[in-house]
Amino acid sequence: MIKETNSWNPKKYNKHTAFVSQLAMPAVDLLEPKNGEQILDLGCGEGALALEIEKRGAKVIGVDLSEEMVKATGANGIEAYVGTATDLPYSDEFDAIFSNAMLHWVKESRVAVQNIAKALKRGGRFVAELGGEGNAYKLVKAMQEVFENHKEFGTFNNPWHFPSVQEYSDLLNSEGLRVEYIELIPRPTLIDDISNWLDIFANGITKDLTPGQFEIFKLECRDILKEQLYAKESGWSVDYVRLRLKAVKL
Ligand code: BEZ
Repeated sequence: MIKETNSWNPKKYNKHTAFVSQLAMPAVDLLEPKNGEQILDLGCGEGALALEIEKRGAKVIGVDLSEEMVKATGANGIEAYVGTATDLPYSDEFDAIFSNAMLHWVKESRVAVQNIAKALKRGGRFVAELGGEGNAYKLVKAMQEVFENHKEFGTFNNPWHFPSVQEYSDLLNSEGLRVEYIELIPRPTLIDDISNWLDIFANGITKDLTPGQFEIFKLECRDILKEQLYAKESGWSVDYVRLRLKAVKL
């Protein structure tokens, strides 16, 4: 499922995470949208990148698990539907499928890739950027440490999978998508404050905590991470590693 364990508020999301789409322009360039093409934006969020792709001449259909995000995308003038990467209703329909910062939320990556391959026309392109091997390593480790120090918080369930180049290449090739380009790109990313990041993205991990426990969780993560991810001159940054790829349906 897309973003299966998180809930999304477009206003809050946009305020603290505009970087998610702003920094994804190299992936849009890799997509090379062309006039008249039909392109699926999988995990379209509030539609910022769908708009950019339409500006370059293609017709975009957005899909996102969040009804709020789909509404926000619709308000941007983009056709969009609620849906999941693991259950797409399309066959041989798209010239290209694009996805940014979403596929690491999908634990059933093979099912997602099968759905993507099915939805593409023969010769169609799949271009994506997702968290790759080592992504947000310090962040995830800190969250896990706080859970281990507070047995009353319950079990730490990591909702993300950050694949390696080898793993994802093998997966794409085995589902009939020939990999043309794939690379892991370390991209430390400036954010406004780690507490806001945890508010927005750690929901899947913290959903069973009481409001008081959640505040403790955030404060303790912040304490652990201050030494690792904060610098006086530049502020907070997250240790992102992007897996960027292009594959073509055979
Ligand atoms: C990412 O884009 O790498 C990411 C976003 C939210 C949670 C984890 C990873």
